[in-house]
Amino acid sequence: MLLQMEEATAHAGEHSTGSGQEDEKPAKTLVDWALEILSTADPDEKARLGDLAASLWLCGDIPLPYDPSRPAHAPPDRPARSDDVRLLPPSRGPKLGKGGSAQSRLAMLHSLAHTESWAVDLSWDIVARFGAPMRMPREFFDDFARVAQDEGRHYTVLSARLRELGSHYGALPAHDGLWDSAMRTSHSLLARLAVEHCVHEARGLDVLPTTISRFRAGGDEQTAKILEDVIYPEEITHCAAGVRWFRYLCLRSRHDDPIARSVPHPVPDCSQLPGDGSPDAKAVQRVGDELTSEKQDVENEQTSKVVQGVNGKMAQEVEDRFAK
Ligand SMILES: [Fe+2]
Ligand SMILES: [Fe+2]
Repeated sequence: MLLQMEEATAHAGEHSTGSGQEDEKPAKTLVDWALEILSTADPDEKARLGDLAASLWLCGDIPLPYDPSRPAHAPPDRPARSDDVRLLPPSRGPKLGKGGSAQSRLAMLHSLAHTESWAVDLSWDIVARFGAPMRMPREFFDDFARVAQDEGRHYTVLSARLRELGSHYGALPAHDGLWDSAMRTSHSLLARLAVEHCVHEARGLDVLPTTISRFRAGGDEQTAKILEDVIYPEEITHCAAGVRWFRYLCLRSRHDDPIARSVPHPVPDCSQLPGDGSPDAKAVQRVGDELTSEKQDVENEQTSKVVQGVNGKMAQEVEDRFAK
């Protein structure tokens, strides 16, 4: 870990400011990191870089979430992906079975690793795509840096487990539909939070206990324990982050905040922004305070329509509602 942090500090220094001439480059922001990670094709390297970026951010070694004096760079429509993983249309995706055979359990494990790898991209995409244009507070970047770090860890432990079982990520084809809803919600942070975090991640939580029981019933206690002890509890926090920021946006719009009125029309140029987002910390606190009294109202109006009753049909309805 120490070596990783030393490497990370050196890596961050590529953009750091200082006294030398070569140090005139602006400091590397968290959004710069996010864009680099999204442009990294190798899934192991993607997870590793994400872990470093999140660690640096969370311990304060990345000074700014984004630089308001520099124009924003849009993240790629599709993150870089390794050619080693053959992607198939969702309709031709590999059959997973119900875990009754070693082959089926390997297919399930491969599919889970694939999903986690996409989740890494999804976490950095929300940071890069929405953080600056929506003038989100630092706590937003904190939350999604943690989510991204978790997703990278999930991918890493599952791909390691694949290797332990004599396989590897990329040994099987994977379905190519996981980014579809990210594309359909790329115009709106509210939509992204609702669809990806309040619906898809919540639905993942609903089905994970069944998946765990299938590994356990098949005799793969080790994989069951990874899912049960590491992934399941952390995925709960990801849903919570989605709900937190969905509520934040709802309440910000209630207070007739001009920033919130920009949803879903992002501010096109970061140079229009007054700072690094930290002033909005007060707004987060305000939201936290007001949630006590307004929680029921908000849930009745919007959140409950999304969070409650999550199932496949609901997910599609929500996607359709929020999609362009
Ligand atoms: Fe995950
Ligand atoms: Fe997650």
